[in-house]
Amino acid sequence: MSRTIIVSNRLPTKVLRTEESLTFQASEGGLATGLGSIYRQEGNVWVGWPGLFVEDANEEAYVREQLRDDSMVPVFLTEPEIRDFYEGFSNSTLWPTFHYFSQYATYEQSHWEAYVAVNEKFCQAVLALAGLEDTIWVHDYQLLLLPAMLRQARPEATIGFFLHIPFPSYELIRVLPWRKELLEGMLGADLLGFHTFGYMRHFLSAVSQLLGFSSQNGQIETGARTVLVDAFPMGIDYERYVQAAASEAAVQHEAVYREALREVRVILSIDRLDYSKGIAQRLRAFELLIQRYPEWREQVSLIMVVVPSRDQVAQYAALKEEIDELVGRINAQYRTITWTPIHYFYRSFPLEELASLYRLAEVALVTPMRDGMNLVAKEFVASKADGRGVLILSERAGAARELSDALIINPTDTGQLAEAMHDALVMPEDEQQLRMGAMQALVRQYNVFAWAKLFMARLAYSKMKQHTLATE
Ligand code: F6P
Repeated sequence: MSRTIIVSNRLPTKVLRTEESLTFQASEGGLATGLGSIYRQEGNVWVGWPGLFVEDANEEAYVREQLRDDSMVPVFLTEPEIRDFYEGFSNSTLWPTFHYFSQYATYEQSHWEAYVAVNEKFCQAVLALAGLEDTIWVHDYQLLLLPAMLRQARPEATIGFFLHIPFPSYELIRVLPWRKELLEGMLGADLLGFHTFGYMRHFLSAVSQLLGFSSQNGQIETGARTVLVDAFPMGIDYERYVQAAASEAAVQHEAVYREALREVRVILSIDRLDYSKGIAQRLRAFELLIQRYPEWREQVSLIMVVVPSRDQVAQYAALKEEIDELVGRINAQYRTITWTPIHYFYRSFPLEELASLYRLAEVALVTPMRDGMNLVAKEFVASKADGRGVLILSERAGAARELSDALIINPTDTGQLAEAMHDALVMPEDEQQLRMGAMQALVRQYNVFAWAKLFMARLAYSKMKQHTLATE
C-alpha cells in the first residue's frame, strides 16, 4: 500500500524535559495544528524534529518508541544544529526575509552549512523510510533544499512541497547569498504549493529572474523536468473547532471567565511570539482606542495570549521585553480597581480553553504585519456557533484573500485599527451574523481535508502528466 510521508521540521508532538522525565505535548503553530488532523489517515507517517535536544541514546530510543505508536518518526538535532540550522538560517535568515523584515536577517556561512547538513539529515531519514510507491510531502521553509536532495536520490519519486509562510517579492529574495540554491532545492518537487496566488506569482518571478526558467499557466520548464506550481489556501479542521467550542469544558471555562470579567466585553488576540504578528502595534492601537473613545474604558478588555516561541533568537527576546513593557505601561496608566485593560498571558492554552476564549470574545484581532495564512482567524470563525462576533483581519495575512467579510485593515495604520475596533464593538447584530455566516460557509467548505485532497489530486495529476510527456 502506498502511503504519504509528511516531512516538516517540527512534529505535531513536542517533547519537553521536566525535572524527572520527558513529557509529550501538542506543538504550536499553524502547520502542526492544521496538518495534525490529516496525517493519521490511511497509515501516513510524519517525519520531523521533536523539539528538544536529547542527551543520550537511551533518551533517543525512548522518544522514538513513544512517537512510533502515533506514526511519527523523529529526526534528532544536535545542539549546534538547533543553534545554526533552526535558530540560525531558518529563523534568523529565511523567516525575516520571507516576512519582509530583511533588517533583522543575518547572512552567516556557518548557518547556511548547517542548513544544508540538516536538510541532508532529513533526506536520509526519509529515504530510509519511503518505499518507491510512497508520496513524499515536504513542508515549509526549514526544508527548502530537501525536494532536490530527494529527487537526486530517487529520480522517479512523487514529491510535493508546500510553503506555509509568504513567498516574498524577488527584491527580497535576490538579497540572499544562497538564493539560487534555495530555488533549485524547491524545484526538485513535482508540485509546489503556496497559500495565495500572490506568493506563487512572486516565486515564478524569482525563478524566471534568477534561474532563467520561464513558466506558463503555473508550469515551469526546467529543461530536465516540468514542475507545477499552484495556490492552495490552507484550511482548518472545522468540525474539531465547532465541537471544541460546544464542549462542556469550553462552556464551563467561559462561564468562569465571564463571571470574573463581569459585564466587560472582550477583544481577543492569540499568536505565537513573533515580530511578524504585529503584537506591539496591536497594543498601541488598543491604547489609542481607549484614548479616543474614553467611553470604552471599564467596558472593554483586551485578552492577549502570546505563545512562547523561538525565544533564544535575539529579536524574539527583544519583542517579549517590548510587549511586557507596553502591557505594563498601558495597564498601569488606565486600570481601575475593578477593570484591567489588558489581560496578558504568555503561555499556550489547551484546545478547550482556547475554544472558551473564542466563545467569550466579541472581536478577534488578527493583525499581522505579514502572515502566510493565519489559521487563528479561521478558528475564531469556526467557533462562533451563534454567528455573532467580528473578525478584524490584516490585509497582509493570506487569510484576507478569502475572508473578505472581516473588517480588513492595514496593520501599520494604528488609527485605522483603533477605528475598526470601535466599529466592531458597535456593529449591529444582524450585520455581524451576515458577515460571520458568509465566512463560516467558506471556512467549513475549504477545510483542511479539502485542502489536502486538492493538493494530492494535483500532485497525482502532475505525475501522470510527466509520464505522458515522457512516453510521447
Ligand atoms: O507555519 C510556520 C511555522 O514556522 C511552522 O513551520 C512551524 O512549525 C510553526 O510556524 C511554529 O514555529 P516553530 O516550529 O519554529 O516553533
